[in-house]
Parts: sequence; C-alpha cells; structure tokens
Amino acid sequence: MVNNLTAPVGVFDSGVGGLTVVLEMLRQMPNESLLYYGDTAHVPYGPREPQELKGFAFSITEHLVKQGCKMIIVACNTSTSLAYEELCASFRIPIIGVIEPAVDKALETTKNMKVGVIATSATINSGVYQNLLKQKHPDIEVFTASCPSFVPLVEAGKTEGEEAESAAEQYLRPLVEKGIDTLILGCTHYPFLLPVITKTIGPFITSVDPARETVSRAKKALEDIGGLRPEGEPLHRFCSSGDAVKFRETAAVFLGRDIGRTERVCLD
Ligand code: DGL
Repeated sequence: MVNNLTAPVGVFDSGVGGLTVVLEMLRQMPNESLLYYGDTAHVPYGPREPQELKGFAFSITEHLVKQGCKMIIVACNTSTSLAYEELCASFRIPIIGVIEPAVDKALETTKNMKVGVIATSATINSGVYQNLLKQKHPDIEVFTASCPSFVPLVEAGKTEGEEAESAAEQYLRPLVEKGIDTLILGCTHYPFLLPVITKTIGPFITSVDPARETVSRAKKALEDIGGLRPEGEPLHRFCSSGDAVKFRETAAVFLGRDIGRTERVCLD
C-alpha cells in the first residue's frame, strides 16, 4: 500500500551507470518522479570489499527512504549482488534489483545454453549470476569476465575510441571463443559501451541489458500495490556524493538532456 502516489522512486548506483535504468524509466514510467543517487565519491565499486559495499548500499537506501521514496531500484549489479536480500529484509518498501531480471531474460534468449556474463570483479566474485543461472537452469554453461577498466572509461565519458575498443577486445574475445550466444551486460555502466562491445562480439551474440526488464518489473510491482502514478508532471532530482557539476555534465551526455541542478549529498 502506497500512501503518496506522487512520491519519487529512488534509484542508485556507484555513478552514472544507473542512468541506463533511468532511461528505461523515462520510457516505461513517464509519470513517476525519481530521486537518483550516484555514489561518485566511491566509484568504482568493483574492486571494493563486500562489507564496505553493503555499507554503502544500506546508507544510500536509508537516505532515499528518509527522503520519502515509495520504492527503491538498486540500479547497480554490484550492490544487488552483495546487498539485495538484506536490503529487502530490512526496509518496508518494495526494493527491485537488476540481477534476476537479467538472468530471466538471458535464459529466455539463449538457444545453445552458453551464456556469458561481464560485470565488475565484486559481482563476478560474489557468484550470484553464476548461481542463479544454474539454479534456474542446471544445464546452462556460464562463462564470466570482469572488466575493470570499463567503469572508469564510462565515468570519464570515453565510450568510444581505441582505449575502449582494445579493452573490449581483451575482455570479450575469450567469451566469444567459448561459443556463447548470449551476453549479460552485468553492470549498469556497460550498455553505454554497447557499440564498442558489439564490434567485438559481432551480430550473432545477443546482449542482455538488465534495465528494460528491471523497470518493467518495478512498474508491475508498483501496479500490484496500487502505487503507480497514473498521470501528472514528474519531478526528477539527481544527487551525487562526489563532484556534482561533473555528474551533471556526464549525465547530460548519457541522457541526452540537461538534468538541472545536481545536489552534492555525502552520507559518510
Ligand atoms: N554500475 C555498477 C554495477 O552495475 C557499479 C560499477 C562500479 O562502480 O564498479 O555493478
């Protein structure tokens, strides 16, 4: 039960990656207001320890709940893989993660049962993707690669060019050689590198971006509790824990529109 339909949906990520989810929200839930938190003071999350990452996820969620959000979308695979279940158990509003939607989509897509997963080191080391894929389909073969330079490249807006292309080649070639037909982009930053990724994987491997499926689940979850806003002008607010001006500039490029004044909110 949601009391205030106009309350925002809270969305968070380590940086600009969660904007891939925001783009889908603008498409699928155009009346919803959103409150975005980019934890750019701590990006990249990938090389950090699980305990620290859980701490970030909890303090951001707590902040978004205090701001009156009616739902939280954990638009970060790393946070989802390490903290999703504990977040769901600790907060009383609906919380949506990005991993299960991606897994279901990949299982629906693959024909040869060979699925690749690219993600941060923390996500791959957590084993959550591998376990969930196997749990849902024991015959699936899963091949993984962590891609440590992808997130810094995206945060710097360097989604094209030689640096991105050679990183993609280095990370993805071994997966292509394993014969995968489906590739999960298991980090919300990676869809911004899709042209470069496609150049390496070619036209016969289907990439799965969790954003679309995640947002359609979020919409359904809101509908089910009578919390979807049927009409009205949304109000979008963006904040980051690091340099708010830089966040605003990068976000404008990825969203194709100015996001307006961005607040700096530090939770440490
Ligand atoms: N975009 C995030 C994810 O989906 C985190 C990336 C990072 O900060 O390393 O995992």
